[in-house]
Amino acid sequence: MPTDSLTLDRPLDMHLHLREKEMLGLVGPLSAAHFAGAVVMPNLVRPVDSLADLLAYREQVAAATSGHVFMPFMTLFFRDYSDEELAAARPHLLGIKLYPAGATTNSEAGVKAIDAAESTIRRMEEQGIPLLVHGETHGFVMDRESEFLAIYRHLAETFPKLRITMEHITTAGAVALLDAFENLFATVTLQHLLITLDDVAGGLLNPHLFCKPIAKRPEDRAALLAAALGAHPKLMFGSDSAPHPRSRKECCGCAAGVFTAPIALPVLAELFEKHHGLENLQAFVSDNARAIYGVDPPAKSITLSRQPMKIPESYGGTVVPMFAGEEIGWSVRSD
Ligand code: DOR
Ligand code: ZN
Repeated sequence: MPTDSLTLDRPLDMHLHLREKEMLGLVGPLSAAHFAGAVVMPNLVRPVDSLADLLAYREQVAAATSGHVFMPFMTLFFRDYSDEELAAARPHLLGIKLYPAGATTNSEAGVKAIDAAESTIRRMEEQGIPLLVHGETHGFVMDRESEFLAIYRHLAETFPKLRITMEHITTAGAVALLDAFENLFATVTLQHLLITLDDVAGGLLNPHLFCKPIAKRPEDRAALLAAALGAHPKLMFGSDSAPHPRSRKECCGCAAGVFTAPIALPVLAELFEKHHGLENLQAFVSDNARAIYGVDPPAKSITLSRQPMKIPESYGGTVVPMFAGEEIGWSVRSD
């Protein structure tokens, strides 16, 4: 007897780009309609790198998502922070996000050398502040995450009490690393469970599937999917939903980012059902994250049902989602 519906308790998106102003006004409510909370990334045009900025941005997110039960878990953009700055910010944040300089959208102010970052990382370890990492080197694009794994190993060994989240992992090697160090955790996106580089660039180029890290090989996707379907306790769902206006995607010099927030839960239900893993979706989209970070999102449940839905061609006429115009087998029940 196939399952026709599934109710998720407090679904969480542990890696989300909400942007600012009109874009925040457009995408904020879409995430808040389906999720009880989300980890909000700090890579705004001017990065969120002070407590004052963080509090101001949280107000903007709260205003854009008002009317929904939704808790934003805020992050700071990594720079050198003093003990005092960390202590003041700690009650207001989930963690600090480290970007290698220039690795992706709005990361120019990121870290140029990990060694130089270590004094702040040590202070974070002492104060119990998690480190969230965009783990890519500046090497050949397909190898950037694999090359970064040595840095994850180094950080995990040097700072054994530091909680480190490998954000949006894309390789079998990163999955394997989860079991090698107690203090390493990871998020994985929707697109990296579903696509490979072939879907991005194997035929006609699909800019709406172009993101950083770029999608990898079938064996990488298989390892990510097996870990998600098996509810690996150190793996969390983080959409990395990253909206850009159509004009910045369908152009020369396409911006990196796949917009998935409003389709993520039904597509995950379809994927987990297809692989006979529906009973593990709750752990993947909420329980693991709650255990890892000790967060307590507000009470909210979302029912998914096996009712087909056509994915819109765009949201607000400007942001094109993954699978635009296609039909999927599941939808969020609105009642
Ligand atoms: O594809 C991506 N887009 N990867 C990131 O790391 C950042 C994101 C964005 O902010 O657009
Ligand atoms: Zn991201």
